[in-house]
Formats: sequence, structure tokens, C-alpha cells
Amino acid sequence: MASKESKPKTTNNSGFTGKMGYVMAAAASAVGLGNIWRFPYLCAKYGGGIFLVIYLVLVFTFGYALLMSETAIGRMTRKSPIGAFKSFSNTKASAFGGWINALVPFIICPYYAVIGGWVVKYLVGYCTGETQAMAADGYFGGYISSNLQPELFFIIFVLLTMVVILGGVVNGVEKVSRIMMPILIVLAVIVSIYSCTRPGAVEGIKYMFIPNIHNFSMMTIVSAMGQMFYSLSLAMGIMITYGSYVDKNQDLEDSTTKIEFFDTLIAILAGLMIIPAVFAFSGGDPDTLNAGPSLMFITIPKVLVSMGFGTPAGILFFLLVFLAALTSNISLTETCVGTLSDELGWSRRKSTLVFGVYAVLLGSLASLGYGVLGDLKIIGMQVLDFLDFISNSVMMPIAALAICILVVRNIGLKTMADEFERNSAFKRKPVYNFSMKYLAPFALVIILISSVLSAFGIISI
Ligand code: PFF
Repeated sequence: MASKESKPKTTNNSGFTGKMGYVMAAAASAVGLGNIWRFPYLCAKYGGGIFLVIYLVLVFTFGYALLMSETAIGRMTRKSPIGAFKSFSNTKASAFGGWINALVPFIICPYYAVIGGWVVKYLVGYCTGETQAMAADGYFGGYISSNLQPELFFIIFVLLTMVVILGGVVNGVEKVSRIMMPILIVLAVIVSIYSCTRPGAVEGIKYMFIPNIHNFSMMTIVSAMGQMFYSLSLAMGIMITYGSYVDKNQDLEDSTTKIEFFDTLIAILAGLMIIPAVFAFSGGDPDTLNAGPSLMFITIPKVLVSMGFGTPAGILFFLLVFLAALTSNISLTETCVGTLSDELGWSRRKSTLVFGVYAVLLGSLASLGYGVLGDLKIIGMQVLDFLDFISNSVMMPIAALAICILVVRNIGLKTMADEFERNSAFKRKPVYNFSMKYLAPFALVIILISSVLSAFGIISI
């Protein structure tokens, strides 16, 4: 949840104020729908405890190394991804690396806004007292296939984003989101305690925390890695851009650890709100566990209605999720607008408007893909699922691989270490070097190949 901070206009080449400035902004970018909506459904679907373990290992090895690298690349070059890649190497392959990092948000942003539209609908629903109706079985499926309303709320969400960006009040939103973030945490703690203490919920807690090897599949790793990129806003140029605003005196390792910790905490809290509730309200029914993108919208209303004060809690909950989604979408849109204006020389206004039209067109395919365009399948997937797949399982691994190659081949691990050791000890150096040199390239290639082969039905993972 965040806005891309406006590029620093300061002379000391640091755009973030004070030590916590970067941590707050990066954590705010990291925390969004990915934590609250995406993490719980992937964890439920791809194995519970085993997914969580793999996710944590990835976050604290590979995710850590990539987050450090992206920030350092930004800080060393003071450029956004396309320029940053060019600064180290002039080859075509490297230019491609910069571009693919810059293009990922163009795929994510339109469908992110579709989910944002669903959140707006639920917020409006709680405000108009539809608390009972929204908790009924089949409500969400009926709603997203109803075409007009989801499309309308999606467009409202895109328009809201554009108004903020054109109005230049990005920093205001950032401030609001910083106040909202602690409230979101408190509310998440309350709802998760409530959810975990429902009869039958303990099975859900066990499912989420006790790894069961029988639930493991190759998809567990593929989805955990995609989620790691998504949640930490990696492999999409964001952290390179943020890094370009970071002060040379900042301890990058310390900041990275704080960001990872905070982001993971919110994801686990969201999991604790939703997964035990699935067990309490549907006995861990496999269909509900596999509900995918709809999971949050199905279980949270049930939890809320049973709380007895569902309407005010629902308003507050969806207001906060809405703000998290809106500020994240602003950040994604800002990145795309920045790429368009830098690379095509367009004004900010023109870039924002063209991008808005593009987002509405592509997002509409995703939104209507649950209704009138239900037959429109790309390699057997609904449009939204396809956009999620192509960005997370295909483009992000390639983008991340490009970063690893840039670091290991062009920049060199020694230069990176010097950058990290500027003002503090580089404590996790062995983990960093091992991740960048061996773990990441190996895992990325395997994951890329297996997810593509599985999407085409050549192997089943
Ligand atoms: N990390 C965000 C989330 O988990 O929702 C998604 C995201 C937001 C990625 C903003 C990139 C970004 F600029």
C-alpha cells in the first residue's frame, strides 16, 4: 500500500526523510492487497503449512537478496529500472532486463484495479446495510458474474486513482495511509483473534502452521515465489526506483530486514483472519480452500456477520482494505506513468490519461471475464487469472533473473558488498551471495520452465 514518493527535489540526492522514511515508504508499498487478499488464498490453496514454510524461506533468502539488490542498484545509479540497467551494461540483453522490470506493473495494475473495484463494492455494501446478504453462500460468485456493477466499481476505482495522480495529492494519500496502517494492524489482530477462537478454527490454525508434505506440489514453490515478488513489490522496478531516493548513509540491510518482517507479519495476520474461519464456517471444505481470488470476499463477510457487530466492523475493515488497495494502485500507476513519460517524452497528463484508457480496456476484459466474457479463456484461464499468471509466474521470474545476472556478471558481488558495507557490517553476506549466485538463478529457471509447461498442459505440477 503506497504511493511512489515524488522524486526528490532535494539537493542531497535523498528523497526520503530520515532513517524511517524509506522503510515506511517501502513497507507501505509492500503491504497491500497482496498481503490481505492474495496471500491467504494462495496459502489455503497450495498446501497451508508447507506453503508458509517455503514462503518464509524464500522471503528471508532470495527475497532478502533481491530487495537488497534492487535498492542498491537504485541507490548507486539514481535511476529507474530502464536507465539503471543501461548504466551498468550496454548490451541488448541488459536493455531487455530493464524493460521487463518496467513492464510488469503494466500487467498487474489493470487487474489490481478490478479487485479494488470488488473492495469498493463491499465497502458500499456494508455502508448500505447489506451485511447479511453479503455473507450468504454464492453471493460473491453471483456478484462478480453480474457484469455491470463490477465493471462500474472497477472504473470508479481507476478514476479515483487517476484523480489522485492528476491532482498531485500523492503525498497526502501517503500520509493518510500511514495513519491507517496501524489501524489496519489493530483491526487485523482483533478479527484474527475472533476468527481463531471460533469452534473448529483450531483445525485451520493447524492447517496453516503445520507443514504436511502430502500437500506439497511444484505449484507450492511456484506460487510461493510469485507471491514473494508480488508482496515485497520485487521484480517490477519499484524498489529500484525507491532505492534511487535512498540516502547513501542508510543501512540497507537493516531497512530490508524491517520491510520483510513487517510485510510478512501482515500476510500472516491476514492468513489468520481467513484460513481458520474457513475451517470454522465450512469445516475446511476443499472447494472453499480452493476458492482462489474470491476467498477473502467469501469468508470475511461470514466472520463479520457472526461477530454481532458486523456492519461497523465491515465498514472499517473494507475501508482500510480499500485505502491499502488505492494507495498501492496509485503507486503502480505512478510507475507506469513515469515509464511512459520518461521513455516516450509524453507529459504527465497525457501519460496518465493514455494509461487510464489502457487500464480500463485491459481491466474490463478481466472484470467481464467472470460474466459475459466467461468463455474468453487464455490457455484455459480466465483473463484475471491469466494476467496474474503471466506477470507472477513468467515475467517476474525473468525480471528477477535479469537482476541476478546484472548483479553477478555486470556489477559484481564485490561491488555490491562494498555498497552494503558503506556504513555497517554486511551480516547476511553468505546468504546474499549464495542466493544471488546459485539459489536464485537455479530456482528461477526451474520455476519458469515448470510453470510455462504446466500452463500449456505439458506437465502437471
Ligand atoms: N506489494 C503490493 C501488494 O502486496 O499488494 C503490490 C504492489 C503494490 C506491487 C504497489 C507494486 C507496487 F508498486
